[in-house]
Amino acid sequence: MPGIPMRSGGPKARIAVIPGDGIGTEVTPQAVKVLKAVAATANRPLEFVEFDWGADKYLREGITLPPGAVEMLRDEFDAILFGALGDPRVPSNQHAADILLGLRFKLDLYVNARPVELLHNRLTPLRDRTEKDIRLVVIRENTEGLYAGVGGFFKKGTPDEIAIQEDVNSRKGVERIIRYAFEHARQNGLKRLCMSDKSNAMTFAHGLWQRVFKELREEYTDIDSRHLYIDTLAMEIVRDPRQFDVIVTCNLFGDIISDLGAQLAGGLGLAPSGNIHPGKTSLFEPVHGSAPNLAGKGIANPLGSVLASAMMLDFLGWGPEANALRHAVRAALHENYVTPDLGGDKRTEEVGEWVAKKAGNKFAVQT
Ligand code: NAD
Ligand code: IPM
Ligand code: MN
Repeated sequence: MPGIPMRSGGPKARIAVIPGDGIGTEVTPQAVKVLKAVAATANRPLEFVEFDWGADKYLREGITLPPGAVEMLRDEFDAILFGALGDPRVPSNQHAADILLGLRFKLDLYVNARPVELLHNRLTPLRDRTEKDIRLVVIRENTEGLYAGVGGFFKKGTPDEIAIQEDVNSRKGVERIIRYAFEHARQNGLKRLCMSDKSNAMTFAHGLWQRVFKELREEYTDIDSRHLYIDTLAMEIVRDPRQFDVIVTCNLFGDIISDLGAQLAGGLGLAPSGNIHPGKTSLFEPVHGSAPNLAGKGIANPLGSVLASAMMLDFLGWGPEANALRHAVRAALHENYVTPDLGGDKRTEEVGEWVAKKAGNKFAVQT
């Protein structure tokens, strides 16, 4: 996604690779293969270091996010390419909370940018919608809200049990994400911004979102900004997605609306995301999870991970290389060289191989 503030823009980049669990371990190597192909053609050094953090390690050694990991990633790497976490053998999801949410919080990756772009007309379930109609980005707050982990049980396991999960919204947190969304719109020539909350019911938490939004929109009068309650947004985005360029919302609503958006553009197999702190080590991943129902079958779609890698290259200042990846993904969609979720009959590795070859083509990298 052009317009992401860069980490370094330097000629060289170090990438930490965390494939994780399930199909994360199947799609991530394909994205790495594509990245290596494009780096080789562009003759730019891209160094990868892989980490085996995930359910297996947790079950074997009791380790989720190793001590010192956050500092190491922050100081020694430009970006992180992440697969997915989640394993039926860890019903508590403790390792995902520690590793994925841990990295989002501890690296302070406050922007979760999730583009929703229809790359081929046949991929949308919406009637009569085409590529030009579905092109927006969800900017999800990524460090607080209902994900903050503040809460607890009272009288757990008894008939009187109470469970509390607090919605944490700081002035600083709300302001920086809404400002980022406005800036993103302005810097990319996008005219419309929609802030979505549930302030009619969540009067305290989202009352703050309302106040901050009203203040900031005065600074961005060049952007046509409006507010929709999240339930209405869910309806409107299906009824007519042409209305939206930039959507900014809280952590939980952003999680939900980005899966909805993904389906409008071909499904979870294609959807990328960037967990970003402008200028600092940031994490890129497909929107999807570890898909235990697909894991081990070799047919998971690797294109979401490839498109997340393109976002990572943009972040690193490698614009032509990022475009080569997107160009190759579009080509695979046009040739129907895709996995079964998109109606094809190709396997994960076949698609990865094909896209790597296409993206590594000298002409692709130059365009
Ligand atoms: P999921 O995204 O793993 O799967 C949802 C559906 O989409 C499934 O039918 C799956 O087969 C399909 N799908 C997902 N990715 C696909 C791909 N690349 N190619 C083809 N089909 C694909 O969501 P879920 O089933 O709700 O969750 C499974 C596990 O993943 C859970 O443990 C959950 O917590 C975890 N999860 C992790 C992340 C992450 O690491 N960022 C994101 C979402 C879910
Ligand atoms: C996502 C996932 C995560 C989230 C889960 C695994 C905690 O659904 O990245 O969208 O809710 O953020
Ligand atoms: Mn999600």
